[in-house]
Amino acid sequence: MQYVIADTECGRCAIIDPVMDFDRKSAAVSYQQANEILDFINKRKWQVAWILDTHPHADHFSAAAWLSEQTGAPTAIGEKVSGVQALWKTLYHLPSIRDPEAIWDALFKDGDIFYIGNLRGEVIFSPGHTLASVSYHIGNSAFIHDTLFMPDSGTARADFPGGSAEDLWNTIQRILALPSDTRLFTGHDYRHDGREAQCESTISEQKENNAYLVNTDRQAFINMRKERDATLPLPDLMLMALQININGGNLPEPEADGNVYLKIPLNRF
Ligand SMILES: [Fe+2]
Repeated sequence: MQYVIADTECGRCAIIDPVMDFDRKSAAVSYQQANEILDFINKRKWQVAWILDTHPHADHFSAAAWLSEQTGAPTAIGEKVSGVQALWKTLYHLPSIRDPEAIWDALFKDGDIFYIGNLRGEVIFSPGHTLASVSYHIGNSAFIHDTLFMPDSGTARADFPGGSAEDLWNTIQRILALPSDTRLFTGHDYRHDGREAQCESTISEQKENNAYLVNTDRQAFINMRKERDATLPLPDLMLMALQININGGNLPEPEADGNVYLKIPLNRF
């Protein structure tokens, strides 16, 4: 899910988890969806105050760097992204990797405060799905990405490099302790049983109905998560996406022939 949240009185907004288009067959990237977000914002004459990623995604390429170029707005992600960079630097056998300070304008730690106009945002460190994940609690909304999905779809997986079912449980408890009127916006929707796509739930809906949390305790959740994750295929784009997303959505530097290449580790997963 890609989100725009705005202080409509001030005309300032933030873009959360924007996606770069990628045509897998031709390995061509484009910015159609990011352009649609810009059109949406420009029509309303809003200024972009922040471009926020919740974590280095495994299923798509981030459009954060491109949107920052277009708007001049600062980018941000959780400070622990350096740990994800280190893991994938090894997996890709990269000779070097850029410092996160050179890639993102802000590296948020737990409890950091930021503003979108007069809207106050607070960073909630939310590891589990990745070791660097953060949620953004902005006004009375929380963008909780790949922690809780819609109640009928349970929770995110926690088996990617650096993931932890134990951490995910703790993160979920923290999210469920937010004020009860908090609007929860999830990172994906898998349209359980073919229903219409949804993105928003409430704390009470999650407590009462989340398929992976009802009648569960910590250990049962961790066991269930590990068993289930062992059966899930890797995301289609993971081995490509991380290479771009640990670099803030920047493509690799062109090689001597002027072309850009991705590197794929074979037989590592
Ligand atoms: Fe994710």
